Amino acid sequence: MENFLHIAAVWLHVLGIALFVGPQFFLAFAWVPASRQIEDLQTRVAAMRTITTRFGWIGGIGLFLILVGGTYLIMTWRDYHNIVEGTAFFDLRYGVVFVIKMVLLVVMIVLVGLHMFVVGPSQVDAMEEQARGGAVSEKDIRRLRITSMVLSITGLILTLVIMGFGVSLGAAEYSLQQF
Ligand code: HEM
Repeated sequence: MENFLHIAAVWLHVLGIALFVGPQFFLAFAWVPASRQIEDLQTRVAAMRTITTRFGWIGGIGLFLILVGGTYLIMTWRDYHNIVEGTAFFDLRYGVVFVIKMVLLVVMIVLVGLHMFVVGPSQVDAMEEQARGGAVSEKDIRRLRITSMVLSITGLILTLVIMGFGVSLGAAEYSLQQF
């Protein structure tokens, strides 16, 4: 039963990662270049709103599954890896790698949150205003676009690094060595 629950938790964790990471690649490398081919600005902005809102839902569900699977994995790590009584969390690489992973996770969530709830919506609002013929300067749009790109690329790189730390935890020959 314990093995089954462990497998289910890793499955949830990995499914969540796929849902969280996949759309980020899709948005950056498929949607952004494709959207530039939509010449009518209002149509482009409307499509942008739909796709980023859907991305928010898919990525949010992904993050939730990551947290559910991850919480189970960290609550059961001692039993699963048969850790000897009296071994402190930071005696092994496992503890140190886990804490670094959590710190990076917090930074990544702050960056993704800033992108999703602050910069992204301002960018789409500015584009919408421009499409309506409002007075929005190219300079402002450019500044928002660059900020948005920096946030999304940094968030994606951090996510890939966090995955590396996760895989290191799972590689017991490495992670269960004395620190
Ligand atoms: C609350 C947040 C998280 C917790 C508590 C958590 C916890 C864990 C733990 C304890 C393991 C190792 C399981 C073992 O001992 O075999 C693990 C594995 C892993 N984690 Fe996380 N994690 C979290 C978030 C994330 C995030 C955000 C990512 C990447 C986007 C991630 C990627 C991975 C990967 C790729 C593995 C390896 C899975 C495998 O064994 O094949 N984790 N996680």
